Amino acid sequence: MTPYILVTGGTGFIGSLTTVSLLEAGHNVLILDNLSNSSPSVLDAIEKITGKRPDFIQGDIRDAALLADLFSRYSIQAVMHFAGLKAVGESVQFPLRYYDNNVHGSVQLLQAMQAANVRTFIFSSSATVYGDPKFLPLTEDHPLSTTNPYGHSKLMVEEILQNLYKSEDGWRIACLRYFNPVGAHPSGLIGEAPQGIPNNLMPYVAQVAVGERAQLSVFGDDYDTPDGTGVRDYIHVMDLAEGHLAALNYCLENDSELLAVNLGTGTGYSVLDMISAFERSSQRRIAYQIAPRRPGDIASCWADTSFARKKLGWTASSGIQKMCDDAWRWQCHAAATKNG
Ligand code: NAD
Ligand code: WQD
Repeated sequence: MTPYILVTGGTGFIGSLTTVSLLEAGHNVLILDNLSNSSPSVLDAIEKITGKRPDFIQGDIRDAALLADLFSRYSIQAVMHFAGLKAVGESVQFPLRYYDNNVHGSVQLLQAMQAANVRTFIFSSSATVYGDPKFLPLTEDHPLSTTNPYGHSKLMVEEILQNLYKSEDGWRIACLRYFNPVGAHPSGLIGEAPQGIPNNLMPYVAQVAVGERAQLSVFGDDYDTPDGTGVRDYIHVMDLAEGHLAALNYCLENDSELLAVNLGTGTGYSVLDMISAFERSSQRRIAYQIAPRRPGDIASCWADTSFARKKLGWTASSGIQKMCDDAWRWQCHAAATKNG
């Protein structure tokens, strides 16, 4: 029987869409998720899109007994590790929660893998590990630094993975540093569903467009950028999913590997660019006001994508209009489902 790819956090935003790509590429998928930030209904959507239903275990990556049982019952070829908490502001308020979930949770998972002799690991890292850019575009050898517990938890796991790789033969590890994932599945059936007030720009913009929120606050218009608003490298989540497949294939073809790879498009867009693009997709006006800068925000950030292209043969293909079209389709679907 084809062995499984274990996808932790696989009912979440990026994990569920990577599961779609894995299933479409012919992999068997086992999802482990504690549903702290997702709904099991996403399994139905995955099945509707792919015609296949991934195996699902509701549980926590910090549960060592559950992990031991899972690895003994399933033949697992590789682990894609998405499970974690991701809100920067919340991590400042509750640092221990973040270190427990993101760092301790990852260590538990790696211990279970070690015991089961599974040594292929794809980790959801973040461009946040670069801190305030000293130069652009960001290459993978840019110095690493973090300013908040969330970012620090990602950097700590990257360092743990380096130590582990050096300590034992046979590990094949890819730390994928995502830039700003946005968009949704083109069907509109799966997308980002933040609980409460969205922290990130694009879910907020989508909720203003659909009428759930009155207006967006644009955090700062006095940055040293073309229009004064923050510039980011937004990447379509389906391109990101394909990047995971490329990293998995690369790892499986090599005996031993430790990679850190940027997953971005290489192009930066401002907050106002993204608002205009979303207005075109939704044919709605996005009301906004200029607000003070958000503490901790950087002016600009975009990726150097040449390493991903050379090493993994992967590049992102979708532009911002496609990202906004797909996010809008998902937002309309989510609003219709919510309103019965
Ligand atoms: P998400 O919250 O939608 O998905 C994470 C999933 O993990 C959720 O389904 C949640 O229920 C689950 N989970 C959390 N803690 C768990 C635990 N202890 N045990 C089992 N399951 C647990 O987030 P996402 O946007 O899909 O992000 C996935 C990963 O990518 C995260 O590690 C995140 O830090 C990283 N990342 C995200 C972004 C982004 O902007 N979305 C950017 C860079 C990196
Ligand atoms: C984008 C731009 C804001 C909201 C965060 C994390 C990072 C990574 C991705 C996980 C900025 C502006 C935002 C709003 C606004 N996550 N903005 N009004 O800050 O680049 O990155 O998510 O790893 O670690 O820090 O993304 O979407 O929050 O902000 O004006 O209501 O939009 O100031 O310029 P960010 P974002």
